[in-house]
Amino acid sequence: MSKQEVVETTEAQIAVHWKEEDYYYPSSKFIGQANLTDPDIFDRFSLDNFPDYFTEYADLLTWYKSWDEVLDSSDAPCYKWFKGGKLNASYNCIDRHLKNNKNKTAIHFVPELEQERVDHITYQELYVRVNEFASLLRKTAGLKRGDRVTIHMPMSAELPITMLACARLGVIHSVVFGGFSASACADRIVDSNSRVLITMDAYYRAGKLLNHKVHADEAVRISAEQGQVVDKVLVWQRYPGKYSSDTPMKGGRDIFVNEELKNHYGARIAPEQMLSEDPLFLMYTSGTTGKPKGCQHGTGGYLAYVTAMSKYIQDIHPEDVYWCMADIGWITGHSFIVYGPLALCASSVIYEGVPTYPDAGRSWRIAQELDVNIFHTAPTAIRALRKLGPEEPAKYNYHFKHMTTVGEPIEPAVWKWYESAVGKGEAIIVDTWWQTETGGFLCSTVPGIKPMKPGSAGPGVPGIHPFILDADGIEIKDVGIAGNICIQNPWPGMFQTIWGDRERFVKTYFADICRDPKSKDWRDWPYLAGDAATMAEDGYFRILGRIDDVINVSGHRLGTKEIESAALVVEEVAEAAVVPVSDEIKGKVPDLYIALKTGVVPTEALARKISDAICDQIGKIAKPRKVWLVPDMPKTRSGKIMRRVLGAISNRGDVGNVMTLANPEIVEEIRIMVQDK
Ligand code: PRX
Repeated sequence: MSKQEVVETTEAQIAVHWKEEDYYYPSSKFIGQANLTDPDIFDRFSLDNFPDYFTEYADLLTWYKSWDEVLDSSDAPCYKWFKGGKLNASYNCIDRHLKNNKNKTAIHFVPELEQERVDHITYQELYVRVNEFASLLRKTAGLKRGDRVTIHMPMSAELPITMLACARLGVIHSVVFGGFSASACADRIVDSNSRVLITMDAYYRAGKLLNHKVHADEAVRISAEQGQVVDKVLVWQRYPGKYSSDTPMKGGRDIFVNEELKNHYGARIAPEQMLSEDPLFLMYTSGTTGKPKGCQHGTGGYLAYVTAMSKYIQDIHPEDVYWCMADIGWITGHSFIVYGPLALCASSVIYEGVPTYPDAGRSWRIAQELDVNIFHTAPTAIRALRKLGPEEPAKYNYHFKHMTTVGEPIEPAVWKWYESAVGKGEAIIVDTWWQTETGGFLCSTVPGIKPMKPGSAGPGVPGIHPFILDADGIEIKDVGIAGNICIQNPWPGMFQTIWGDRERFVKTYFADICRDPKSKDWRDWPYLAGDAATMAEDGYFRILGRIDDVINVSGHRLGTKEIESAALVVEEVAEAAVVPVSDEIKGKVPDLYIALKTGVVPTEALARKISDAICDQIGKIAKPRKVWLVPDMPKTRSGKIMRRVLGAISNRGDVGNVMTLANPEIVEEIRIMVQDK
């Protein structure tokens, strides 16, 4: 990202600018039971005590061997946390709870069809199933410590079972969001060199049983074309004992997990004693270039951090029933459906389907039936639930003590509805700002200590020290002035590197603001998050949005370059430009501008073909709101497409002065086409 781009987009993003709101205070009832109420925490976690203060987080885990060094920065900015320590994530999420809580529910799996029974999986049952599947992975699939495996599965109890079985063996899992296309799955298989793909035959979404196995065949085919052979495809069954897909199984390659598991009944696999710095998983995310980046998360640092965040920011106690609506295929699901809550011995709800299926009361019926008392979702879902059923929460008898919002800025009006209607005025709210790269929260209020402020995430969580830089890299100390939010110090949940691409890791997140590229001192390597933000008088940060070419659709990241390169695969396309458009429900959606090759006639069918190409290559989540087939792109004299101008047209904003463009007349032509006047 060049400095110039930072300035240009920062200004465009400052559209999200709400007035400062009044505080909301936590109730004495909440404070009375909160995990963290000691105001001294912020003194203890001041930079003077860095990095040792993070041992408070590591102490929440069970270690086979304690660490020799809290932080090894000899390869900065690739850090090793709790170096020399040994532990196993699956042991920490399962085995250590058995002594006192083996009969407690670990996972409530809620199928989308309401007539199907909820599956309540105890910690003991989870232990048995993870061990048996780990045995299958080792003996049938031949996986061993350090191997990578790609998992392309829907929301199901089998997904965390699969992840925890990998963790037990020290196999690095790479979960691909179930809604991503075969092609996106193949890219990740190739990048991580996975020779095993784990999938499920089918799942329910909006009342339909979708064929999922078909994507596995396609992904394996595309991977092979790119030189990565997948020799085993492990297929879980949505209904054990029955195949719910009409796609044939390939002999010698495809294995029904539920069948094969019978050969592993009763197996027990001793957890591998992993080094703290060994990778636990990869999670791919979009960036400024076309190729998704595999964020590599370590074992000890990551697990310590998400456990602490779950305990202190989400206030999870073992007796809580906790429901995070995210998909496990995103980082939120990894950290806050699977690893954090299970490390704390909570009961975690996994829901297969759409929150408003079959009606807008569904989520609240689930909350009522399971006695959910901690709820976690994104502004997109809150907006949709408000639009479809503003009166629904009041009809159900559930009570939340705590609610989280994550993934996008939340408008104060939506925040207030969340607080009064969903939370019934009884729940505290934390607005948690973080990223795939960061493993866990960066900014949020500590719910038992700090008041809430609608529209603001809050200060850095204990241990995180944010600050704001202007486009020249000078710190902005004034309140209310937007700039690039950065973190002064490393933290244990931070990703270790981009899989196989240390150079890109350094370049993307550190190089622009590094004080000395040769330094081994963490103080010289602040982290550039890629978001614009302002700070208020009280030290609360308000996140304004991305400063790079990333669009946040429904709280999920999509790279504009990724969508553009998918469009360019269509033969008739000469140029493609993607811009974010504000959307009432999803926050932002992509608008796609296309200039066709000379002589090609623009038709509705061609626009559809381009849109379908994007869904095929990335997934439906990237489907453009509209494909505009324009006669030419607005360009600078040096030939650069002016995305800012296209963005202004799509959002019905001011296009500004365009007279310096190479082709200013095209702007009005496109404006009339898009705005229909
Ligand atoms: O722009 C920020 C936005 O989501 C981006 C991270 O997306 P992803 O890696 O997919 O992780 C999503 C789950 C954490 C950030 O760079 N974002 C995340 N949380 C918030 C947010 N924007 C405003 N407020 C938030 N609470």
